[in-house]
Amino acid sequence: MKTWRVGLIYNMKKNVHVDPDAPPDALAEYDSVETVQALHEALEAGGNKVIRLEADETLLDSVRQVAPDICFNIAEGLRGDARESHVPAILEMLDIPYTASKVLGHAISLDKAATKRVWRDSGLPTAPFQVFHYGDEALDPSLSFPLFVKPVHEGTGMGIDGNSVTYDEAELRQQVGWVLKTYRQPALVENYLPGREFTVGLIGNRFLPGDRSRNGIYDERGYHLFPVLEIDANQGVGEGLYNVDAKSYVPGEQGAPLYLCPADIPVSLEAELKELSVAAFEAIGALDVSRIDFRLGQDGRPYLMEINTLPGLNPVVSDICIMAHSEGMEYSRLINEILLLAAERYTREGKALLVAPISYQIPLLAEVSVPRGKATKRGRA
Ligand SMILES: Nc1ncnc2c1ncn2[C@@H]1O[C@H](COP(=O)(O)OP(=O)(O)OP(=O)(O)O)[C@@H](O)[C@H]1O
Ligand SMILES: [Mg+2]
Repeated sequence: MKTWRVGLIYNMKKNVHVDPDAPPDALAEYDSVETVQALHEALEAGGNKVIRLEADETLLDSVRQVAPDICFNIAEGLRGDARESHVPAILEMLDIPYTASKVLGHAISLDKAATKRVWRDSGLPTAPFQVFHYGDEALDPSLSFPLFVKPVHEGTGMGIDGNSVTYDEAELRQQVGWVLKTYRQPALVENYLPGREFTVGLIGNRFLPGDRSRNGIYDERGYHLFPVLEIDANQGVGEGLYNVDAKSYVPGEQGAPLYLCPADIPVSLEAELKELSVAAFEAIGALDVSRIDFRLGQDGRPYLMEINTLPGLNPVVSDICIMAHSEGMEYSRLINEILLLAAERYTREGKALLVAPISYQIPLLAEVSVPRGKATKRGRA
């Protein structure tokens, strides 16, 4: 048995430089010192040796030098409309295993319109929408007010406030113009979903034939779905929206939205939200972990809003950690499960990661030592 050397890859808020004309919430997506420290400790508690790596322009050299067995990736990326895919692309170039989705999964999920096109094509419910690249496009007559306007590839509720809900074309064009100018990216316009808001977290990957040796928390498909979390943003500062302000409060603090987990919903709605989440996850090719956001529409039905393939992992404030906590899963278990799910995938592909860390042994697909880079029958089984 040997300890894994895990590269913990992140963009820490305090190290990210923002342009003077960047929007005021430009840093919202990046991780705090506390989150990185908590992940570090959790991975160590899993028996790993952790090497921290900042995902800046030096990463290609630093990660090559460190040569970790596997990387735990939470890096949001510094710039560009597929910034969450930068670290996966580098690690693939270097043939280093890493957690969570790959280049394409993150690129799709970061583009809310691309995600919705994939879901629509897969027959999944998502609000009708239109993308504005310039601001003067003709409004699609099939859309009906109120319409919601948001930046097409931001997260953490950035660029969302009371003005995001528009009631006529003048308001819509003004908000679209503001998004284009402030966030320098297209604006996504979609039907406003007036109902309750839910978010579903999951870890797992679909079992392939023969994959059945994972520990017992996964269902027969290969997923572990956390209890549904309802966010009531009518409480607190969000004015009904789970926006960047609402997300800046610690749950329970005055001003925070109300977090209800498990949500008080009928079993049928819970099952539907979970089924839709797995389908939404698989449709974009996500891996290991995600959080999927929903709202109920005017018709009372759930609609997919977006998927977060790099969900926040702060032990106290992040939604998926709140869900895990509510079902009694410890933070370190959550983090090490994600690591093991990734290791399992690479093991299946015949990569090196076949020796589980000492103090956190969960049966992997193949707990045997296999020379690096060589596929074995057992490894694929
Ligand atoms: N079509 C819509 N109708 C009503 N409210 C919406 C709609 N789209 C987004 N919202 C509100 O804005 C919030 C943020 O939107 P969304 O989840 O798409 O963006 P995000 O910034 O990527 O979120 P995250 O922090 O989860 O990454 C939602 O949680 C919801 O409260
Ligand atoms: Mg969201």
